[in-house]
Amino acid sequence: METVQAIARHADDNLLDDYFDERLLVRGEWRKIKHELNSLSPQLLRRLGDYFMRRNHADLAIGCYKTILRAGEATKQDRFAHASLLMQFRGMAEKEGQYADALEAFRELKEVSPTSLPALINIALYWMDAVERPEEWAGEVREAMALALQIAPGLPLCHYILGIVDEIEGDAKSAAQRYYHVLEMDPSYGAARIRLHWPDNWRFLDRKQRERLSSWNTDMPDVNELVVDRQGGSIEAARSVFKKFNAVIIRNMFADDAWVGIRQDYYQQLGERMHKDKRGMWLMEDVDQSLRGSVTRLTDEAGLESWLHGILGEKYDDWRFAEHHAWHIQRRDAGGEWVTPCHQDHPVFCANNGYATCWMPFDKCGDDRAPGLELFLDDIEHPILLQEQFPHMPLTLPTEFVHEYLEPKRLRPEFVPGDMLIFAPLVFHKTEALDAGAGGKRMSCDIRYKIGPTAWGFGEMQA
Ligand SMILES: [Fe+2]
Repeated sequence: METVQAIARHADDNLLDDYFDERLLVRGEWRKIKHELNSLSPQLLRRLGDYFMRRNHADLAIGCYKTILRAGEATKQDRFAHASLLMQFRGMAEKEGQYADALEAFRELKEVSPTSLPALINIALYWMDAVERPEEWAGEVREAMALALQIAPGLPLCHYILGIVDEIEGDAKSAAQRYYHVLEMDPSYGAARIRLHWPDNWRFLDRKQRERLSSWNTDMPDVNELVVDRQGGSIEAARSVFKKFNAVIIRNMFADDAWVGIRQDYYQQLGERMHKDKRGMWLMEDVDQSLRGSVTRLTDEAGLESWLHGILGEKYDDWRFAEHHAWHIQRRDAGGEWVTPCHQDHPVFCANNGYATCWMPFDKCGDDRAPGLELFLDDIEHPILLQEQFPHMPLTLPTEFVHEYLEPKRLRPEFVPGDMLIFAPLVFHKTEALDAGAGGKRMSCDIRYKIGPTAWGFGEMQA
């Protein structure tokens, strides 16, 4: 009881940060007092929950909201916060049960508040993320979207989701018209455009619609439009490029010799491991326990945190910057076997704002000598699940079709050591494939950050 009372005192004094840093979180005391949460008032639990959420301790925050819910004193906001956090976990691989709880939480929220747009939309997003048996509750999603459209008739997302429901139920004719309607509302809605181009859907458009559609084509950026030079550029400039293209290349983010030491230490080792492990990408910790520390030191020196916060943090200014657990190091050789195909890093439908991949080459590449990283810049704001990558999911599109569709959107930037590429989790990208004759090789690392609650890992591929 003493601990709980101390929490209450600190919460009142707004000193939670000091209290938890030094005692609870560090020493794991939280586990000891979990059962005492019932004795805290809903107001205090709410404050604690919000606090934990800001500190990226989503599991602790969930514990607080859950306690309010159990006590039957939850407001709609408590329910929403609880459900959103569960959804943020979206651990299809690691936290399956918790993810399913999110659906229940949003269903409950819908019961309490039938006109809650977030509840309605999140039910649908969950459905699209976990669609192993989508036909079983396609009806519920259709009904939720019908309600959502009464509240917000101009929301293209609802029409897009209804198009997916139509596809699942085998009504390609209706799906095509829905995707077309989405594009009438928002011509840059890339996910609707790609699904509409799938021949099964496309055949239901008439000639006039096809003509109109081609006139809505969005322009491809020139590679140079993606570049901000740190020398003479600004975080604001990088932010506006990222906002427009979901990607930005920052030249001179690091000194050009920043990676020399790491390159010297690991090139040969990684080459040997490529043959032994039959792959060209490793978790940093699997290569060397201290490697992540060396990379962190260099990124700290370069002030990466403030750049990323400036670029991504718009919606989350009061949220902490968090490292995502998956940091990798890669080696790619021209003509080498290990070429990562075109993919999205985090193809998850649930809200995923503020997450980014930072990719840093240690060698000159993308210059027809050493394999760079190619980007496919189409404004695709939802996952496009590729059959090859997700053979068990029903919402997939054939991989070859997607590749062909994206081909005209391909950009092949040149990179030099010191550059950093930042891109959003739904940007398609791949390793640049080069003939062995080109002869070059590159090392790179990719590190991920999130502003807001940290997501659990997802089966990502690296390029
Ligand atoms: Fe990737």
